[in-house]
Amino acid sequence: MEYKLAPSILAADVACLGDQIRQVDEAGADSIHIDVMDGVFVPNLSFGVPVVKGLRKCSKKFFDVHLMIVNPIDHIRDFAEAGADGITVHAEACGDRLYDTIIEMLGNGVSPAVAIRPDTAIDPVVEVLDKLSMVLVMTVYPGYGGQKIITNTFSKIKKLRRVIDEKDLDVDIQVDGGITLENITEVKDAGANVFVAGTQVFSGDISKNVKDFRALLKA
Ligand code: DX5
Ligand code: ZN
Repeated sequence: MEYKLAPSILAADVACLGDQIRQVDEAGADSIHIDVMDGVFVPNLSFGVPVVKGLRKCSKKFFDVHLMIVNPIDHIRDFAEAGADGITVHAEACGDRLYDTIIEMLGNGVSPAVAIRPDTAIDPVVEVLDKLSMVLVMTVYPGYGGQKIITNTFSKIKKLRRVIDEKDLDVDIQVDGGITLENITEVKDAGANVFVAGTQVFSGDISKNVKDFRALLKA
């Protein structure tokens, strides 16, 4: 299995976002996780399409755009054109339009992923699993960086990994929220293989933090 680190720029210093992205890129990050919040699906506001477009010139790494917005289907094309490589939509935000939203992502040439909040069961993603590149199991309630990991989400990760293996699919399991150098091995052992980390990557020595995470993801 391939293990990947996706630093979340929500925790980066926005005054020098481009430089910080270059730093994580050079230190060995596999992708750049960009959190998009609309103040409706989650209480907070963050980045939008122009930011994704502007940052595209700072790194050639995979841009992993996490949409915490209502009606994501209406915005897929704009994010794809701005330079997203993969887009994650929330199952809770799509309702009965989840399948159509995935088709919209595929039609716009981005890798489709679906996220579930800590209180959402894996059932909606299992139904569409064969169409997905990745499932994001949120390990905190979406909306804010710097929260503590909710460990009862690990059983969902285990269950999902079992289903993916049983169906013999090549689908990544991403985790996002409260991931630290202390808990990453436990989350990895539960079956996750793509790790978003914001606060722990962007506090202190960014390059060292990326390397420390990467070292724990070897083997
Ligand atoms: C939370 C975001 C996360 C967040 C993770 O809603 O989706 O990507 O930035 O940050 P940390 O690692 O600080 O929990
Ligand atoms: Zn995120």
